[in-house]
Amino acid sequence: MFVRTASERDLVAIRALLVETWHATYDAIYGAAKVTEITDEWHSIASLKARLTRPNSEFLVADDGKRIGGMVFAAATTDQKIVLLNQLYVHPDYQRRGIGRMLLEEIEASFPEARTLRVEVEEANAPAIAFYRAQGFLTAGNTADCGGGSGLPALIFERPLG
Ligand SMILES: CC(C)(COP(=O)(O)OP(=O)(O)OC[C@H]1O[C@@H](n2cnc3c(N)ncnc32)[C@H](O)[C@@H]1OP(=O)(O)O)[C@@H](O)C(=O)NCCC(=O)NCCS
Repeated sequence: MFVRTASERDLVAIRALLVETWHATYDAIYGAAKVTEITDEWHSIASLKARLTRPNSEFLVADDGKRIGGMVFAAATTDQKIVLLNQLYVHPDYQRRGIGRMLLEEIEASFPEARTLRVEVEEANAPAIAFYRAQGFLTAGNTADCGGGSGLPALIFERPLG
C-alpha cells in the first residue's frame, strides 16, 4: 500500500470503502438503518467531491494499485494550529497492517504549521480508541454533536504535533 492524494476518479471506490467500513464498525452501535442514513448523507459522491477542493485540507488514500484499502480526510480549523481529523477509515480486510498509522503520519507531515491534531471518536468504538491511544492521543473532552449536525455524542482526543 502506498499513500497518495485522492482524486475525483477515486470517489466511487472511496464511497464503497466508507459504506462497508461504516456498516462493519457502527451497525452494532447505531443500527444498520441509522448507519445507512448517515453514510448516504456524509459519504455521498457530492459530499466527498466537495472535500477534494476544500482549502487547508488533505484528502489521502492508501492504494495497492488494485484496490483502495484506506482513506483519510483532515482539515485545519478556524484556528490554523488545530487540525481536525474528520475521517480515518481502513477497510476491514486491511485493518491491523499499519495502514491507519501510515495515513496518520502523512497527515501530520501535511500540516507543518499545526500544533494539535484532534479527532472525535464514538465512545463505544473501542478499537479506534485503542488505535488513537497507541498513536499518542490523549483524552481532551467530549462533544454532544460528533462531526457537526449528527447529534451523536463523542469523545475528543488530541495529540500535540511538532
Ligand atoms: C481505527 C483504524 C483507523 C486503525 O487503522 P489500522 O490500519 O487498522 O491500524 P494500524 O494497523 O495502523 O494499527 C496501529 C496500532 O494501533 C493499535 N490498534 C489498531 N487497531 C487496534 C485494535 N482493534 N485494538 C487494539 N489496538 C489497536 C495497535 O497498537 C496497532 O499496532 P499493532 O498492530 O502493531 O499492535 C481502523 O481499524 C479502522 O478504520 N477502523 C474502523 C473505522 C474507525 O473506527 N475509524 C476511526 C473513526 S474515528
